[in-house]
Amino acid sequence: MPYQPHHRDAVRTIYADTAFFGAPVEAYFDDRGLFADLGIDPYLEHYPDYAWVAESEGTAVGYIVGCPRGDGEIRRHNLARLPRILGRLAAGRYRVGRKTLSYVWDQAIAAARGELIEIRSALYPANLHINLLPTRRGHGLGSALLRAYLARLSSDGVPGVHAVTTDRNEAAVHLYRGFGFTVLAETTTAAWKRHVGGPLRLIAFGLRLSVGTSAQETVQNP
Ligand SMILES: CC(C)(COP(=O)(O)OP(=O)(O)OC[C@H]1O[C@@H](n2cnc3c(N)ncnc32)[C@H](O)[C@@H]1OP(=O)(O)O)[C@@H](O)C(=O)NCCC(=O)NCCS
Repeated sequence: MPYQPHHRDAVRTIYADTAFFGAPVEAYFDDRGLFADLGIDPYLEHYPDYAWVAESEGTAVGYIVGCPRGDGEIRRHNLARLPRILGRLAAGRYRVGRKTLSYVWDQAIAAARGELIEIRSALYPANLHINLLPTRRGHGLGSALLRAYLARLSSDGVPGVHAVTTDRNEAAVHLYRGFGFTVLAETTTAAWKRHVGGPLRLIAFGLRLSVGTSAQETVQNP
C-alpha cells in the first residue's frame, strides 16, 4: 500500500533492522536513530509519494523508497538537514562510538580508493531502497513493492532507475534480474571487510522504463 505518515516509525525500524545485508544495523553502527535520520528520513520527508509499504495483519513488514532524481538529490536534502542533525548531536541525543567511527573511516577509505559506486546517468536517474523483515521474505512482497514503484516512475516519465546492492544480497540480485535490470557497474570493495571477513562485490543494476505505461508494461528492455 502507499506509504502514509503513520508508517514512519515502522519503516525506520525496518530500515535499521535490515541494514547489515538484511540484518540489524548494530553490527556496524551505534545509533539506529541517527542512522535512520540520515538514511531513510530524507525519502520519507521529501518523496513520500515514491514510498510503498508491505503490511501483514495491519503492521508494516517491508518498504520501498526512492528518489526520481537519485542520490545527489538526497545528499542535497541531507545537507539542508545537517544543522538539525548536528544540533541533536551536540545535545547528546545520538550515540557515536567506536563502531560508527570505524564505519565512517572504512567508507571514506573505500570512497578514496574508488571502491564505491554511484550511478549518475540521465538514463537511470531514479534510485531505490527496498527491505523486508526476515520472516516476510520470499513470498512475493518485494516484487509487489518494486512493481508499484516502477509503475509510478513510468507514469511520471522517469526514463530509468538504478539500484546498488552486493553479491551477498542474493534475493535482491534475483529480484532485480527478474525484473529485467542489467548490470551497469561492478566493483570489489573492502569497505565491509572488518564485518564480513573479506572483500565483496558491489553491483549497480539499471532498468530503462517505458514512459506513461501501466505496472505490467513498465520494462522497456527486459
Ligand atoms: C531483497 C528483498 C526485498 C526481495 O523481496 P522478496 O519478497 O524476498 O522477493 P520475492 O519473493 O518477490 O522474490 C523475488 C525473486 O527473488 C527470488 N528469491 C527470493 N528469495 C531469494 C533468496 N533468498 N535467494 C535467492 N533468490 C531469492 C525469488 O525466487 C524471485 O525470483 P523469481 O521471480 O525468479 O521466482 C528481500 O528478500 C529482502 O528484504 N532481503 C534482505 C534485504 C536486502 O537484501 N535488501 C535489498 C538491498 S539492495
